[in-house]
Amino acid sequence: MSADPQRAQLLQIAATMREYLETLRESGVTGFGQVVANTPKERSDPVSVSPAAQPPASPRRLVSGAGAEEARSASPPARVAASPSAAQVGDLFLSPKVQTAQTLEELRAEIGDCRRCKLCQGRTKLVFGVGDAKAELVFVGEGPGRDEDLKGEPFVGRAGQLLTEIITKGMKMRRDEVYICNVVKCRPPDNRNPEPDEIAACEPFLIRQLEIVKPRIIVALGTFAAQTLLKTKTPISRLRGNWHAYQGIRLMPTLHPAYLLRNPADKKLVWQDIQAVLREMGRL
Ligand code: URA
Repeated sequence: MSADPQRAQLLQIAATMREYLETLRESGVTGFGQVVANTPKERSDPVSVSPAAQPPASPRRLVSGAGAEEARSASPPARVAASPSAAQVGDLFLSPKVQTAQTLEELRAEIGDCRRCKLCQGRTKLVFGVGDAKAELVFVGEGPGRDEDLKGEPFVGRAGQLLTEIITKGMKMRRDEVYICNVVKCRPPDNRNPEPDEIAACEPFLIRQLEIVKPRIIVALGTFAAQTLLKTKTPISRLRGNWHAYQGIRLMPTLHPAYLLRNPADKKLVWQDIQAVLREMGRL
């Protein structure tokens, strides 16, 4: 029943490699022999700029990654460097069927009784995701807590109730009109933060979920969702409140509802972010 220790070790190595590649990317290295310089010519260089990482053509400003702060004051916006995808790093054990699953049901079936990382040891139920498989809006959280682990559904505990209120009372939408999932699908013990090897093992499922749902907008709830999707170490306090791009999809990072339970004074910041989302959806 326990996770294979060799697999866990390899995942740890993959996560470390990934972090190393991220560090290189953030310091401007996008490939062997390539260094990103912030010049107009290189901004349009198709080799060093991942098409998937480019924001969609839109007059609205998008900022992404470690350069977000600088991008806010720069004109034209700072370039978005290529990042290694999960298909390149961290998916050593990924069955090709995960990447080719056509529906959420197929993807869930492929995940199966997952033993790909050590989180399987403490989980009761794997928490895949819930909501409209064709949702315009997806919320991505960090990982299941105790209530979610018992029920097998994301955001059903106290933080989940707050998220549901944000959706129903704040956005005037139904919870089943959106799609809700997490970066890691199994509960980290004692609600600790998910570790890099766990995120690396689980990220391909999130990537495929988002590819299948194809939302127009993603709201990343808290540090882990925002940093995982945007491939950055920039703190959530700096990421939130600005539009970013994830694979051409508009992404709004905001504070996690669990944080808001401890810091209710910051609810106003989340409300600002949600209002930006509502404007973008033409609902405000
Ligand atoms: N926090 C999360 O990030 N996700 C959940 O599903 C519940 C709490």
